[in-house]
Amino acid sequence: MSQSELYVSLDIGSSSVKVLIGEVDGGSLHVIGVGNVQSAGIRKGTIIDIDATVQSIRKAIDQAERMIGMQIREVILGIPANGVVLQDVKGVVAVNSENREITDDDLDRVMKSAQVMSVPPEREIVNIIPKQFIVDDYDEITDPRGMIGVRLEMDGTLITTSKTLVHNILRCVERAGLVIREIYLQPLAAGTFALTDDEKNHGTAFIDIGGGSTTIALFGENRFMATAVIPVGGDHITKDLSIILKTPTEQARKIKHQYGHAFSDDASDDELFEVPVIGADSKDQYSQRYISEIIGVRLEELFDLVLEELYRMGVRDLPGGVVLTGGITKLDGMLQLARHVLKTRVRIHTPEYIGVREPMYATAVGLIRYAHMQDTYFGHVQDSPTVQVAETQPPAPVNKKKAAERNTEKKPGLLNRAKKVFDNFFE
Ligand SMILES: Nc1ncnc2c1ncn2[C@@H]1O[C@H](COP(=O)(O)OP(=O)(O)OP(=O)(O)O)[C@@H](O)[C@H]1O
Ligand SMILES: [Mg+2]
Repeated sequence: MSQSELYVSLDIGSSSVKVLIGEVDGGSLHVIGVGNVQSAGIRKGTIIDIDATVQSIRKAIDQAERMIGMQIREVILGIPANGVVLQDVKGVVAVNSENREITDDDLDRVMKSAQVMSVPPEREIVNIIPKQFIVDDYDEITDPRGMIGVRLEMDGTLITTSKTLVHNILRCVERAGLVIREIYLQPLAAGTFALTDDEKNHGTAFIDIGGGSTTIALFGENRFMATAVIPVGGDHITKDLSIILKTPTEQARKIKHQYGHAFSDDASDDELFEVPVIGADSKDQYSQRYISEIIGVRLEELFDLVLEELYRMGVRDLPGGVVLTGGITKLDGMLQLARHVLKTRVRIHTPEYIGVREPMYATAVGLIRYAHMQDTYFGHVQDSPTVQVAETQPPAPVNKKKAAERNTEKKPGLLNRAKKVFDNFFE
């Protein structure tokens, strides 16, 4: 019988902090807990106030905990793509065993040897993604384990980011009382599962339009190729509406969610609503078409910036088209506007899991699925249960058993990847 496993992901966005608790059973994911609270202390993916961020994380975790009646201990953390650098790396080792069969240990050593290169002191390794393994003279191997050889090589991509940025995020998560099990680059985790195999193969831009920023991730030749961040997102639309309609930010946000439309040609003149005016007792009336023009201008500008960035990244052609995700892509008319400006095939990705059928959850879902994929490939050494029965809560028999099983079942792991990353963190 298959053993179900619990995963908790944490996406600290500039608009909201999302926590998902997922149970993966026989390869299928069920979301059993969700926390989502408005962020404080984060701007454009960077922490600007530690205490406020810790509180937002704690609130989102508490929300999710209440849904399952257990305490969350370990999380899979997403790292934003701001300032990320990708570089090609190569690892080479001699196969260890006497019979020359390649084992988990050889795989572990070759991946570690690829990281033994000079990473500048101000940068931190986030992830390493194998492109291919080479056993003696045979290349393009995806999993060398079980093969016979003398020499094992790995070509991969090393992802590094600013040490300051990542340390501050880690500090907040630790202060919120959590243990970090793994970290993954957000667009890598999200894009890997939002795109189809064909899209990843042919060349596709995966674009996550969040609250404070827009992240472009390029996939092609079946791998993650490049990423860039534009510091514009849905919250800029809120601000535009707030200024032009002279209404408080919170009102502007609600109007955007309720009546917002991105493509004025399709917006309605008859959909009318009233908004309170700052500093006055009166209300003003507007139509959906009126605000769709304000929203459309900002989004057109954003898509123009996306095109410029794609050009700068050397993209001349996108055979797989564009896949959009992120909270703001829920806006009506988004697809039409994106197709109009980007002049290519565009689709919107929404995770297909009960409880999180919203594009804003693409990253949190991707983090869980990425962690599960890595565990399946590498095995996983568990230091502590992902969740534990809260002292204040009555024990939930089924889940308690699962937590206990998880605690005792220690698969022989390969890379204790989180440990590797955090060993030198808080020196
Ligand atoms: N139903 C909706 N209609 C329109 N906009 C929405 C809707 N739901 C959320 N948004 C907008 O989406 C944005 C937040 O998206 P998301 O949650 O993906 O961002 P984030 O991950 O918090 O931020 P970032 O990725 O930039 O750090 C906000 O501007 C929010 O107002
Ligand atoms: Mg986000």
